[in-house]
Amino acid sequence: MTADLERCRQAAQVAFAAGSEPLEVGSLANTGFDLATLKTLQAGDAVVKATIDSGLTAWVLQLVDADGRRWALKRAWQKARVQNVDGATSFLNEVQRRADFGRLKREPGGEERWAGIVDTQFASYRDGLMLSPWIDGQPVGSWDERRLESLFGLICSMWLEGLFEWDLCPGNLLDDGQRVRLFDFGYCYRFDPIRQFSSAGRGDDRPLFHPVERFESRCFCAQLLEIEQLEGEASAIAAFRIEKRVAIEAYRRMRSVIAGRGASATVLQWLDGICSRWQLALTGNLEDLYLAENWRSHALDLDDDLRGRSCTAMTLRRADWLLAALDRHGDTLRAQRAFFWADADVGLPVLRERYRHHRRQAEAFQLAPASVF
Ligand SMILES: Nc1ncnc2c1ncn2[C@@H]1O[C@H](COP(=O)(O)OP(=O)(O)OP(=O)(O)O)[C@@H](O)[C@H]1O
Ligand SMILES: [Mg+2]
Repeated sequence: MTADLERCRQAAQVAFAAGSEPLEVGSLANTGFDLATLKTLQAGDAVVKATIDSGLTAWVLQLVDADGRRWALKRAWQKARVQNVDGATSFLNEVQRRADFGRLKREPGGEERWAGIVDTQFASYRDGLMLSPWIDGQPVGSWDERRLESLFGLICSMWLEGLFEWDLCPGNLLDDGQRVRLFDFGYCYRFDPIRQFSSAGRGDDRPLFHPVERFESRCFCAQLLEIEQLEGEASAIAAFRIEKRVAIEAYRRMRSVIAGRGASATVLQWLDGICSRWQLALTGNLEDLYLAENWRSHALDLDDDLRGRSCTAMTLRRADWLLAALDRHGDTLRAQRAFFWADADVGLPVLRERYRHHRRQAEAFQLAPASVF
């Protein structure tokens, strides 16, 4: 039996963190900064132009050097604000991924291929810091084709390298006008794309998760919910159609590359299944797929928030969407096989009761305003 990837990874990370082996990427040469200064810079120091301390494991200082170049200095909190193993080891994980991307960028054509990934000037795990060029970009307010093509190209290329990015939340995405940029890899994990789908479970037993699913669950479906409520369902479905058209092209390219590298039948069938489902919906009934994908994304996000006891007003909106969908479209959702895990084998009345209960839990687990980072 294949080992559980999550448990192996967590055990390895905890062991590495407990040791003293250094882990460094890049160098400070030619930056004008030295390590001792970077470790102690504070808000108010002359080179510090801004600070962002909303992070759960780190805070970010915007620095401007003597030549006017801007930098992002990410420094780990002494103690992560998240208690679980993945949260507590996310800074270590990010330094490891920065090392992986450094290698990829040094390959022929790598600079251009990985232009969407922030450069790492210097990172040191034991010193708890990372220095990167500041990205001149904006959060993505609306997802047009250019932005979608740019992001999906990037996350599919990462998937092909065996790097699965879990946290595609709005705060981890910036648009620099040319492309969407990624810069936070605290929850980007390794897996083997020849035989596995992702880093979840044993790698080949959680077909639910894939790069576009991560974007939908962490980012896009919340935006669709907003569009649905402000402009109506037709507008939301139109935005969804654009997204799926771009997604299917990206997945076809991903499929042909991984097939060329000798991917297993399991992986190819899994990708074929996703593509043919999208293709069928794009040429036929997109509304049903819209319901199913939103069900999955809202249910996954609700589940995350309940497990972490970290619910917000958005959690309640997602719960309300799920309850309304059950009432209005329960049979369609069942026909679409939208219900998963413990929801897969129970009737609609049980699901209604279950999601009413989730709604009540989400009310009870609302974060106090001060702890919403
Ligand atoms: N290189 C960069 N260029 C521009 N802005 C950046 C850069 N790195 C980080 N930021 C800004 O700082 C914010 C926080 O950075 P980041 O997402 O890396 O860490 P975090 O989410 O605070 O940490 P955690 O993942 O522990 O919660 C980002 O949302 C972004 O606005
Ligand atoms: Mg972040």
